[in-house]
Amino acid sequence: MQLIDGKAVAAQIKSEIAAEVKGIMAGGGKRPHLVAILVGHDGGSETYVANKVKACEECGFKSTLIRYEADITEEQLLAKVDELNNDADVDGFIVQLPLPKHIDEQKVTEAIDYRKDVDGFHPVNVGRLSIGLPCFLSATPNGIMELLRRYNIDTKGKKCVVLGRSNIVGKPMASLMMQKSLPGDATVTVCHSHTQNITEECLQADIIIAALGQPHFLKAEMVKEGAVVIDVGTTRVPDATRKSGFRLCGDVDFENVAPKCSFITPVPGGVGPMTIVSLMKNTLLAGKHEIYK
Ligand code: GUN
Repeated sequence: MQLIDGKAVAAQIKSEIAAEVKGIMAGGGKRPHLVAILVGHDGGSETYVANKVKACEECGFKSTLIRYEADITEEQLLAKVDELNNDADVDGFIVQLPLPKHIDEQKVTEAIDYRKDVDGFHPVNVGRLSIGLPCFLSATPNGIMELLRRYNIDTKGKKCVVLGRSNIVGKPMASLMMQKSLPGDATVTVCHSHTQNITEECLQADIIIAALGQPHFLKAEMVKEGAVVIDVGTTRVPDATRKSGFRLCGDVDFENVAPKCSFITPVPGGVGPMTIVSLMKNTLLAGKHEIYK
């Protein structure tokens, strides 16, 4: 069994990005600039956004954090999105989700100029992904593809089961695994809450990507010997022994599943760091106008 070290790969990619930014600056170019909008004080969102800002520093990017209280109106938020769409200094921006209930997340997502949508959530980017055109890729699935690439994991013709059908992980993950390039070229099955015989589906899989948000859902008896297991779960479970009062729990029963695997990602230190790095890659691409001229 080989542990996939997402933290180490992420550190390596950040240093590659930082070196490229140095080159851009030396050539008189513009420093890539990412803006993050954070509404309210959700604990998870606070952590994610702080990590994104820190990663920008490590990559040599400019970053701006815009904070609003949870009572901001949809209209005010949309006005800010419009302003950022038209600000030539801003290469890419994200609106951290979830948003308070009175704000329509889809409306906000669609208001973002797809050429600055470094989250890859805008329907133009999602659509272009599904037909294999260059686009901003959703960060978590793209981070997983990078791990598969860097660990030389064979995906061609392999059976891949994606557990979960969310718009930001499950669906784009399935698109990428079935794309006509490598990593990709896999035979993909997407399982969800209405799937029958999920154990049988998983037992056939060479690669399982668990993204349901259910702690320890994937048990050893659901995994075949030699499978590759990627754990996207990051549920916060109470833990009085931690200073924070919680720990992150993956969707995989790691202790019992790991001995059966050829490769497996840990939680934390697997997919999580790669998600942030993928956002950095998208920001660099946005700064270079490489996807949309
Ligand atoms: N909430 C959870 N993950 C994400 C993400 O990747 N981007 C944004 N904007 N919000 C999130």
